[in-house]
Amino acid sequence: MTLRVSVIGTGYLGSTRAAGMAEFGHQVVGLDVDPERIATLAAGRSPIYEVGLEPLLARHTRSGRLRFSTDYTVIADWADVHFLALGTPSRPDGAADLSQLHAAVDALAPLLTRPALVVGKSTVPVGTARRLEDRIRALAPAGDGIEVAWNPEFLREGFAVDDTLRPDRLVFGTQSARALETLEQVYAIPLTEATPVVCCDLATAELIKTAANAFLATKISFINAMAQMCQAAGGDVVLLADALGYDSRIGREFLNAGLGFGGGCLPKDIRALAVRADELDVPVLSQLVEAVEAINAGQRDGLAELAIEQLGGEVTGVRIAVLGAAFKPGTDDTRNSPALTVADRLHAAGAEVVIYDPQAHLPPRDNFTQVDSVEDAVTGAEIVLHLTEWPEFRYLDPEALGQLAKTKIILDGRLKLHAPTWRDAGWKVVQIGRASSL
Ligand code: UGA
Repeated sequence: MTLRVSVIGTGYLGSTRAAGMAEFGHQVVGLDVDPERIATLAAGRSPIYEVGLEPLLARHTRSGRLRFSTDYTVIADWADVHFLALGTPSRPDGAADLSQLHAAVDALAPLLTRPALVVGKSTVPVGTARRLEDRIRALAPAGDGIEVAWNPEFLREGFAVDDTLRPDRLVFGTQSARALETLEQVYAIPLTEATPVVCCDLATAELIKTAANAFLATKISFINAMAQMCQAAGGDVVLLADALGYDSRIGREFLNAGLGFGGGCLPKDIRALAVRADELDVPVLSQLVEAVEAINAGQRDGLAELAIEQLGGEVTGVRIAVLGAAFKPGTDDTRNSPALTVADRLHAAGAEVVIYDPQAHLPPRDNFTQVDSVEDAVTGAEIVLHLTEWPEFRYLDPEALGQLAKTKIILDGRLKLHAPTWRDAGWKVVQIGRASSL
């Protein structure tokens, strides 16, 4: 059954979700207050680097199934379902800033004269869905005819299209059989492919999403703490992670030690969880999150210190090549990027930092230079730092790069380089968490 679906907010999540809803066969309007973004999307182009997104946008803007608008009157009484896909960035105190969500429902609600389902996709503090429903019902002429459901999003940058079209699970937080039925119609295609579904109340749905990100962050920080133990005790964290991963109860994913997690989601979502846990008087959870954050921050500091140590303790005027600026491979997103934190630290210590990333293009800054190739970055460098594990960095030619570098030292902050190949070419390879390389 074809539904009329609006997706409000066309950032990473919203633009992918809008295109995905069209692929599921629905009539879709993506709405955003940013006219430039809407014009780009309406032309079938993607404002972000995300594999597979542009072809999907192009296909459905051409077919007429996917439209974009800045005008709430276009969607208000037209859509059967309104998805809220707005950003929830951090406020200065770490709590989630819900102002975009509030602005969206304040613009939409007064225009809703017939019953509709409003479905939250944004990551929010538990309790938000219920408060949004009160807010919408108070403003909407349709009043109690408007229902709120929560359907959290689990897509990963770099895999956003695939995760949207073939989700590993669906979570439907609803309050009525009618809302559940509507969500089943929205997701009819993945449901025919036997995608697991968890049906629950609003609070559980909100918490599932935050818990997933908190658990992933905890897994990463756990392995990074073990990396520190390996360094202290003479062990090898990669072998340790491999061995843990063979235990199916643990699993190998998200046990890649290194610089730790960054990006627009994990750091902000776990901070907001800690704030909410304190509000609800669950201090053990905020303490756990604080430990996870402290380990994560320590990895960035530790890597910068290790680089300075390798250079004999003094980096003033020393040229340092940084490979990678995105917070992870497969994206041009540099929000809360561990690579950039390390670059900033080294610049602050006096180094001349030169960065290369295959996709992330940084606005010009005083504290480092961005170049267009690995070769340009490495030329004249006294140390090379591998900070974002783009696959192409694995296939670099250490012989050729050795001719360009001033000193052949490489610090592998992501533990993805094949150290023997680099060593054979005369490089000193330092890998955090692998004591034998230190
Ligand atoms: C994360 C979650 O994985 C998604 O499920 C979720 O939907 C999304 O946040 C969100 O809330 O929107 P994403 O931010 O795209 O997705 O990035 P991840 O793939 O989770 O990676 C996060 C960070 O952890 C990256 O900096 C990555 O380099 C780092 N990481 C990941 C490690 O340091 N080690 C690992 O083993 C795995």
